[in-house]
Amino acid sequence: MPHIIADKIDLPSKTCSLVADGGFEILFFANGFDGAIGVKTPRAKFILRKFPHEKGVILKCDKSTRPPFLNDIKKAMLVVAEICGAKIYEKNYENDPILHDREYENFVSASEFINLFDCAKKLWIEIGFGSGRHILKNAAENPEKLHLGIEIHRPSAEQLLNRAKYENLNNIVVVLADARTFIKSLKTSLAERIFVHFPAPWDKNADRKVFNMEFVKESLKVLAKNGKIELRTDSENYFENSLNIAEGFENITIEKKINKETIISSKYEDRWKKLNRNIFDLIITKNYDEDSVNSKMDFSIKNSDILREKISAKFTVKDENYLLITKKVWKLNNNAILAQIIMGALNSPIAIYLLIGDQAEYFPSPPLPTKENFAAHLALIG
Ligand SMILES: C[S@@+](CC[C@H](N)C(=O)[O-])C[C@H]1O[C@@H](n2cnc3c(N)ncnc32)[C@H](O)[C@@H]1O
Repeated sequence: MPHIIADKIDLPSKTCSLVADGGFEILFFANGFDGAIGVKTPRAKFILRKFPHEKGVILKCDKSTRPPFLNDIKKAMLVVAEICGAKIYEKNYENDPILHDREYENFVSASEFINLFDCAKKLWIEIGFGSGRHILKNAAENPEKLHLGIEIHRPSAEQLLNRAKYENLNNIVVVLADARTFIKSLKTSLAERIFVHFPAPWDKNADRKVFNMEFVKESLKVLAKNGKIELRTDSENYFENSLNIAEGFENITIEKKINKETIISSKYEDRWKKLNRNIFDLIITKNYDEDSVNSKMDFSIKNSDILREKISAKFTVKDENYLLITKKVWKLNNNAILAQIIMGALNSPIAIYLLIGDQAEYFPSPPLPTKENFAAHLALIG
């Protein structure tokens, strides 16, 4: 990830413009050893953090607010350094990020997808698409659907978007996220198909298994009636374990196939076929309707005064389902406060920022609407 090492990064006390060329803007600046700088670019808002370094100070993008546009981060760091009159000792990227900008219009952040995508098109989701052969083929043959790819591996995601651009496919959207968490935040009854092809093996590390009980439960919610979860694997162990999980659910139909003919074969599939290994398919069809639930989660904050008092006092709340902890609080100009809090599920909490002035909001966007995040939010504002 890009970073800059400089002598110091402090906002000069004399008045200066916090707006730079190209629509880059500093929204807030928390000075101090371990500071936080809110930045706005034409297509994203995020936080840069500065930490002490042996040569002075190191500036990086905060991971939890990181947008998919790396060049915005690079340019923002240069803008901040210039406004602060910093002397840059080192940076791990070339001088003119815009020159090398690659615009991934269909690369959206998880929260953008949740907030912006009200799909008129029916959604097909592919989890861990790897080289992307299958999703590309689906997108080309089914232009009337929106194809959402979820990946944790950034190079695979970039490769897919490059390929989609080359093939003039504008019905592919990519979210860079752990599918197990992201799927929890999608609205109910949104998707027709969810593909999980050759998920990473799990025998050595059960925590990495994508296809677990919770994943199936959440995927069923996201599917419309008659929608399908389609697992394909070369591992009999993975298949048997997943079948076992699926059999615990009601009102679904389960189909099992071995060495099913397929129109498109992924890189992994080719490899296993050459070794004459069996390929297992598990297809789960949802046989019921349900009402939209998580669209009712409202993360707005009505009373900023109560929240300000609460945050200033610092707190830790641990319930059996969620946690909520104040990690750090900065005082900003104009009596405003920036706070970093930890909230959400006990086993996978998130770090998120709150900006509290006359009004209060999560910065740059509210947490993903999972039931644990919402429970923590209610505790925060209650
Ligand atoms: C073995 S590869 C299979 C790729 C592709 N589906 C195929 O059939 O060739 C597994 C893929 O899943 C991705 N992956 C692993 N865990 C994931 C998770 N929790 N969320 C999203 N993607 C994940 C990996 O980055 C990798 O690209």
